[in-house]
Amino acid sequence: MAGNWKMFKSPAETTTFFEKFLPLVAASHHAEVVICAPFIDLAAAIGATQGSAVAIGGQNLHWAKEGAFTGEISGPMLKAIGCQYVIVGHSERRQFFGETDETVLKRTVAALEVGLTPIVCVGEMLAEREANRTNEVLKTQFDGGIGGLTPDQFSRMVIAYEPVWAIGTGKVATPEMAADAHRALRGSCEARFGREASQAVRILYGGSVKPDNVQGLMAQPEIDGGLVGGASLEAGSFAGVVNF
Ligand code: 13P
Repeated sequence: MAGNWKMFKSPAETTTFFEKFLPLVAASHHAEVVICAPFIDLAAAIGATQGSAVAIGGQNLHWAKEGAFTGEISGPMLKAIGCQYVIVGHSERRQFFGETDETVLKRTVAALEVGLTPIVCVGEMLAEREANRTNEVLKTQFDGGIGGLTPDQFSRMVIAYEPVWAIGTGKVATPEMAADAHRALRGSCEARFGREASQAVRILYGGSVKPDNVQGLMAQPEIDGGLVGGASLEAGSFAGVVNF
């Protein structure tokens, strides 16, 4: 269960969140729990979660190790501060910051090279779903991004299916819709990496996951976890998602 805080919270708010959140999930051992925080909050988040089972991640990384890239953060930097995960290719980055399948692949490889677990996002826009193009879009995103990994790299990553029309809209995909998309993605994984690897890879669903709809989603065997935006910002609601 991964939380994506997007562009929310100060370091002080981060500390307050974990003071409330950690006791609420202390007895939860059924899921790996991750918070992907803004860069400026990572130090506070990693400090607050030391000795707990909660892992911390970034929300993006540059593919170079270092260099003249004003405003960017690299994989080795995220690793050095204590991150274990990083989100790659979120639809907001694809829509607003020029992310392409090609740059998604470069960032994913850079994350893996430094030992971070990339959570690679794919998902269709509303118009694409309405035109019955969901599986085709997912296949193109898979082939251009994740499909370019080696089998070893693939075994160390996590996929997140996030239909763009369900993000921040309160319009959650039905469990069946999400499971269909996960099956299509797992099919692409099987075609490229074989049956065993495709069964082992974790595919998270993201898009308006809340405490009151998480159970139905997680009842689908195809859905291995969640990537949670809005509901991860408040300790009680994210704990409600984790402890479904
Ligand atoms: P919401 O849960 O706010 O819809 O956001 C989903 C998301 O984009 C997580 O990465």
